[in-house]
Amino acid sequence: MTNRTFAIIKPDAVKNNYVGKIYNHILDKGFKILSAKLIKMSKYQAEQFYFIHKDKPFYEELTNFMSSGRCMVLALQKENAVEYWREVIGATNPNEAEDGTIRKLYANSLGENAVHGSDSSENAVKEISFFFTESELI
Ligand code: CMP
Repeated sequence: MTNRTFAIIKPDAVKNNYVGKIYNHILDKGFKILSAKLIKMSKYQAEQFYFIHKDKPFYEELTNFMSSGRCMVLALQKENAVEYWREVIGATNPNEAEDGTIRKLYANSLGENAVHGSDSSENAVKEISFFFTESELI
């Protein structure tokens, strides 16, 4: 469905106790949270999830970080969910993110940038189904 996107509140943000603030931010921006769960990814899961980046120089760092601690995975719903969520989270590098975006507010670096968002509707469908079964999307 094109009105869905997938989000992760990454290990840095969970560790810094930003889950509540980011949850409120999501709701304030008008998203419906279809499902959410707190998990700790295995290294293998992180490698599979970010397989698209396997040839990038930061792949090892990224998958180590994403499997380093608890994160919250979320399926979100709203009109134009993918584009709007990317707007709400801001640029990948928090130093380049606009004021008021989640990454500007809660992230410290490019590698540890607080949140993830799908980059297309096609990937949103894949990413949601990577972590959630259909019966969990309520
Ligand atoms: P995310 O939206 O989760 O998608 C891929 C992630 O790779 C990205 O956020 C960043 O956290 C990370 N990333 C992108 N570029 C770099 C980089 N040059 N060095 C380290 N991590 C990066």
